Amino acid sequence: MCGIVGAVAQRDVAEILVEGLRRLEYRGYDSAGVAVLNNGELSRTRRVGKVQELSSALDEQPLVGGTGIAHTRWATHGEPSERNAHPHESEGNIAVVHNGIIENHNKLREMLKGLGYRFASDTDTEVICHLVHHELKSHDSLLAAVQATVKQLEGAYGTVVIDRTDSERMIVARSGSPLVIGYGLGENFVASDQLALLPVTRSFAFLEEGDVAEVTRREVNIFDVDGNTVEREVKESEVTHDAGDKGEYRHYMLKEIYEQPTAIAHTLEGRIAAGKVLDSAFGENAAEFLKDIKHVQIIACGTSYHAGMAARYWLEDWAGVSCNVEIASEFRYRKSHLFPNSLLVTISQSGETADTLAAMRLAKEMGYKATLTICNAPGSSLVRESDMAYMMKAGAEIGVASTKAFTVQLAGLLMLTTAIGRHNGMSAEMEAEITQSLQSMPAKVEQALSLDDAIAELAEDFADKHHALFLGRGDQYPIAMEGALKLKEISYIHAEAYASGELKHGPLALIDADMPVIVVAPNNELLEKLKSNVEEVRARGGLMYVFADKDAEFESDDTMKVIPVPHCDEFMAPLIYTIPLQLLSYHVALIKGTDVDQPRNLAKSVTVE
Ligand code: AGP
Ligand code: GLU
Repeated sequence: MCGIVGAVAQRDVAEILVEGLRRLEYRGYDSAGVAVLNNGELSRTRRVGKVQELSSALDEQPLVGGTGIAHTRWATHGEPSERNAHPHESEGNIAVVHNGIIENHNKLREMLKGLGYRFASDTDTEVICHLVHHELKSHDSLLAAVQATVKQLEGAYGTVVIDRTDSERMIVARSGSPLVIGYGLGENFVASDQLALLPVTRSFAFLEEGDVAEVTRREVNIFDVDGNTVEREVKESEVTHDAGDKGEYRHYMLKEIYEQPTAIAHTLEGRIAAGKVLDSAFGENAAEFLKDIKHVQIIACGTSYHAGMAARYWLEDWAGVSCNVEIASEFRYRKSHLFPNSLLVTISQSGETADTLAAMRLAKEMGYKATLTICNAPGSSLVRESDMAYMMKAGAEIGVASTKAFTVQLAGLLMLTTAIGRHNGMSAEMEAEITQSLQSMPAKVEQALSLDDAIAELAEDFADKHHALFLGRGDQYPIAMEGALKLKEISYIHAEAYASGELKHGPLALIDADMPVIVVAPNNELLEKLKSNVEEVRARGGLMYVFADKDAEFESDDTMKVIPVPHCDEFMAPLIYTIPLQLLSYHVALIKGTDVDQPRNLAKSVTVE
């Protein structure tokens, strides 16, 4: 789930590996480790905590060797501790790093114990290295032993294996957790994300599900799930943004909040002409796929799910098609019905979220007419396995709390609304209005960012609070949900979002002076209803923070602070009202002194269930 880096080179690789881990730090992790091979010796260093701890340990006692593997762990089985950190070893010969979960680890552990193997950790991963060690007894190469091992594994893995007695190679295998091979000159690499390897190469090949590869300094041989030799296309990386750089910003999250005007401009580039969204924005054959769509099923998790929830309002209201939105982990385990001419849309910043990927595969089996992913990671599993892809082009998002990916997803979904709508009765005038709104978004987001100072001041009020309630109506309800998620993720304040019409059905009981209520109130047709809900809160002594259009006529007083948001049209309002909520959570987290970019317990890319 977290970071893997591996290298086979003539030079010492420990530094390259640690730098690779640093570049993957943003994913969130609890411990880190590295193992290298040198002249028949296998050495390993592991530390709990940040990569910096590992790096300092290596400064004191350097590891020498040209073949090595490294890992940042996000514990699934066994507490975060040095003995559970990867790489794991078997009999001092085999070392393994692994991302994912081995679901049948208990059975394998018992079997291996029966064979005399002693376990040094509580992880599921350790079964892999003992199994490889065991299989080597009856196979003549590390490759064959790993191929025999992975056949016995159930669950998800991206794994890299090295052998003390064969320091010229590493064997890598992928099923359910991404791995990319990096090609260098007389040296080769592997990583769970190309970002880790950008300082050493820009040529990459993504492994496919079931692939096993043998990587030496001069050669990379890839085998598919049946053991046949296969070619995986080697491409030059298009990642222009070097994620390693925070620039003038104190945190990646703040940088990414401020990057939103540019990210939105990028996502629109070349995709709108003469007041129309080009079908090709969604991939080569999109025109053919989109023309008959009558129903849209959206699947996503977390922030991406909130973007999908907003899009449901738009698709049903403006594009004239029915739409359901569901959390991937629910969709994949329940029986759902397939409507005729249904499009399955997945939304994912990373393109590797295990639940979303599994839900997409299930939908394919069910016979959806087509699958489309709205994704920010070129070459990711969702992009490769979907019929169509809307590439977000938001640039790498490093902060665990998603910000620019969310607003770019909203822009992409608004474009999708027009592309589907035009086949279902949306007028050319409306499409032109929407595209015009899209094109003016970057400038409007810029204006919304100027609220930063005012929001920083406001954030003081939240520092000693333990709970907060977010309210919105219509397509602002998902924005309220996203505001609440941001606040809980990075400031650890418990926050809930409600459609404000629901207040009187329960949450009103929570209102008192210790429960700040944040309201998003653009000037739309639901404003009067929302005002009544605000009065309901006021009557119970609640303290409100209202983000409102200046024409919405809210006045600040003892019980209510009104923060005027730049006036915007209905198409862009959800996106624009997101900005102050992102800034609010950021400033509250700053005051509370939490780890903004790597909040506790969270990972950037959730490649396990
Ligand atoms: C966002 O702030 C979260 N960290 C999380 O909810 C995230 O949106 C979710 O895990 C989905 O990720 P994805 O977009 O990469 O699929
Ligand atoms: N399941 C393994 C563990 O708990 C790997 C976790 C990861 O993906 O980082 O050690």
